[in-house]
Amino acid sequence: MIINGPRGTVDIMPEESRIWRYVESVFSETCDAFGYGELRLPIFEHSELYLRGVGETTDIVQKEMYTFSDRGQRSITLRPEGTAGVVRSFLEHKMQNQSLPIKLYYNGPMFRYERPEAGRFRQFSQIGFEAIGSHDASMDAEIIGLTMEFYRRLGIPQAELKINSVGCPKCRPVHRQALIEYLQPHRDELCDDCKVRMEKNPLRMFDCKNPHCQVILTGAPRISEYLCEDCQEHFHQLQGYLQQYRLQYVIEPELVRGLDYYTRTVFEVYYPDKAVLASAIGAGGRYNGLVAELGGNDLPGVGVAMGVDRAVIVLKSTQQKEITPPRMQLFVAAMGKEAQLAATEIIATLRRDGIYCDQDYLGRSLKSQMKAADKAGARFTVIIGEEELAKQSYLVRDMDQKMQWELHREELLQLIRDAQSATNRK
Ligand code: HAM
Repeated sequence: MIINGPRGTVDIMPEESRIWRYVESVFSETCDAFGYGELRLPIFEHSELYLRGVGETTDIVQKEMYTFSDRGQRSITLRPEGTAGVVRSFLEHKMQNQSLPIKLYYNGPMFRYERPEAGRFRQFSQIGFEAIGSHDASMDAEIIGLTMEFYRRLGIPQAELKINSVGCPKCRPVHRQALIEYLQPHRDELCDDCKVRMEKNPLRMFDCKNPHCQVILTGAPRISEYLCEDCQEHFHQLQGYLQQYRLQYVIEPELVRGLDYYTRTVFEVYYPDKAVLASAIGAGGRYNGLVAELGGNDLPGVGVAMGVDRAVIVLKSTQQKEITPPRMQLFVAAMGKEAQLAATEIIATLRRDGIYCDQDYLGRSLKSQMKAADKAGARFTVIIGEEELAKQSYLVRDMDQKMQWELHREELLQLIRDAQSATNRK
């Protein structure tokens, strides 16, 4: 019996890996343009990092972490997200002593024991960036600007931006009190999760997907009505900066996010066609208390993470040129040992020029080799047999124009190089 991969994991096949590579290269180029440096972090950390960093009342910590004891009886967790690890590394390497802000990016697999569905996996990849050390709203705008620039460069300019402010430790308790008072009469009608949230972190209830809870929350006080003056001013400034990036956005007062570390700015990005993908393609916000929570000075931070799996789902629906595989320019069909050597020499030469070409490795009949060439979509084929070797000229066939010629080796190489240049220009 064969063994399948665990639920919630996927194997990324070669055609799809091409799209992944494209997403990753656009991402690192965009980060370079904004001055972010790459940080490569471990995939597992001490569990305590997430208990303190992500927050004990979050779904991630409560029900989604892959946690185990290693052989030294340490509690270890496969990273469910990247921000806590970045801050851990920031502190471990004393980056606070360098000139601030520190701007970092990362890319790699994350693990959450979630219910798998379209675009939701148990192992998924995030690319993200974090800026640590600035309180200024221009920093939040840079993170959002970078996020939207990434989607624009990727060929998803229609990505929609939703923003909100979730306030700070000064204004949040006032809102919390008002929210609890509003919810008290409905307590028994709430889902079990929301009953716990109401005790521990009622703001999180806005994130609940239960339709009945959502109805109850319709008239609930929003954090936006309770922002202190400083938070209001920060949110106002952020919008001024977003206009400089020429970004369209929607203010969504219910947007609260599912992680505990957020203060002030929060945002999410969606693809407009919900039939392609209903969940967020990227999300982030400001986390002014996280560095201190993890044992550092009182330094602020802001960042974002974008789901690579989700970006790939969207890109596949758009059929862009960048993600179509290159076309095979030449297939060399050879009959006999000598011809096989000549075929290898030709493809080795063209491959050194970066041209995609191939030959037969199974000793198949000429007919089968031509069939293979056709199936692979080769632009040209060439046939080399004893006769062709003796004449030193080969029968070349243009598979698109259905024409053929006899060419010497040099003429053949030139034809293929020209065809490649023409393809590159398209
Ligand atoms: P998050 O909203 O939990 O935030 O995840 C960010 C993005 O990761 C989501 O918008 C989505 O695209 C992708 N994602 C999350 N879970 C899954 C899943 N199960 N399957 C596929 N994709 C998924 C964070 O992780 C924060 N660390 C973001 C951040 C960075 N905030 C500040 N800095």
